[in-house]
Parts: sequence; C-alpha cells; structure tokens
Amino acid sequence: MTQTGSAPSQWVPVALSNMIEAGTSAGTVVNDAEIVVWRDTAGKAHAWEDRCPHRGMKMSFGFVRGDHIACLYHGWEYDTSGTCQYVPAHPELEVPKSICISRYGTTETGGMIWAYTPLGTLEQDSPPDLPALEGVRSVYIDAPVAQVSGALEQHGSTPAGNNETNSNFTTVKLESTVVTVGLQQISEGRCALHIAVPQDTTIATREALLDWCEDLRRSVEQLEAAA
Ligand code: FES
Repeated sequence: MTQTGSAPSQWVPVALSNMIEAGTSAGTVVNDAEIVVWRDTAGKAHAWEDRCPHRGMKMSFGFVRGDHIACLYHGWEYDTSGTCQYVPAHPELEVPKSICISRYGTTETGGMIWAYTPLGTLEQDSPPDLPALEGVRSVYIDAPVAQVSGALEQHGSTPAGNNETNSNFTTVKLESTVVTVGLQQISEGRCALHIAVPQDTTIATREALLDWCEDLRRSVEQLEAAA
C-alpha cells in the first residue's frame, strides 16, 4: 500500500467481473468518489471518474460504442485513453486533446474489477494476486467497512494482511469452499462486499452462500442500528 498525503493508495474492488458485460457500464462509489466502470466491446474493463468534462453528466448514464463511451447528454464520445474524440454538434471539429476524463488504474483478478485509488495515483502497487474465480453476488451493507471486516473475522475469515500490497479482500470457508470476499468502502457508513468462488462450486453451495450473505448483512446492520 502506498501512502499519498493522507489517503492510502490501494487497489479496491469496484464490481464483479461478470456483472459488467461487454458494451455496458455501471456507476459505483469508492470513499465518496463516483466512478464509472465500463467494459468496451473487445472485453477490456475501465474505471474512470464518473463525470463528463462538458457539463458534468455522469458517464455511467451513457452508452458504450465499440471502444468508445458516449455521454448521454450531448453525446460526446471518449476513447479508452479517456480522450474526447467526437462532438456530435460539431462533427468536423478536431477535438482538443485537453478534453479528457481522468482514469483509475484498472485490472481484473479473482473474478473482480479493481480500481487503483485515489484518482491520479501514478505509482501503483502490484494488483492482488488471486486465482481465477467466478462472481456470485455483490452485497451492499449500511455499516462501516471495518465493522464488516470484524464480522467476517467472526465468521472465520482469513485476513489478507500478509499481502502488504492489498488488504481489501479476505477469504472465508463455507463448508469446504474457499470464498473470496472483496471489500469496497463506499463511504464512512456504507460498503460493498464482492463475493467470488471457484468455478466448480456447486449450485447448492452457491445458494447457501446467498443465504450467508443475507444473514451477514442483516446481523451487521442490526448491530449498527443498535449502536
Ligand atoms: S454533459 Fe456530457 S456531452 Fe454534454
């Protein structure tokens, strides 16, 4: 983990890979920063600031065309480097290269898409070294991420603290299956868990895992409400 000023720089899971199909986008939030996660039609994932430089519309409301993402409002199109390439109202215009969207370092591992935060961190640690996994569900919990981590430890999680480059995932054993849980802090009081399992995990175990997720969410939120 690299320290830049007061904000630690780190890889944060922002979506399950299989929830962002080619040619689609979705909005998410890390530490109150809005992020658009999108996948071009060649299959490459991108995580950018979720704001069009023109009038500030969320890019997650836009649409993907090949390797461009277009803003919903006035249709400005950005290539995979974040640079605006096309302004529909002025089709002949050679767009100034200075019109661009800030990008996060983005990678995919362990069945999740990860963004390197905060925005603009040039020097990046290695991404987490996870096996090929399949996403089961993302769970959104109204509680601080530290509290959820504590609850996971009570559920027998193995903190990923021995991996100095990343502490935003942990593993939990459910029956004989090792479940990988990616931890995304959305804000001080809200977080997301991205749950992934080996591809040969049985349907029965996946169903048990959905119940486990719901129990975890309910118990943590009840504790938080009672605090
Ligand atoms: S606000 Fe995005 S194109 Fe105008």
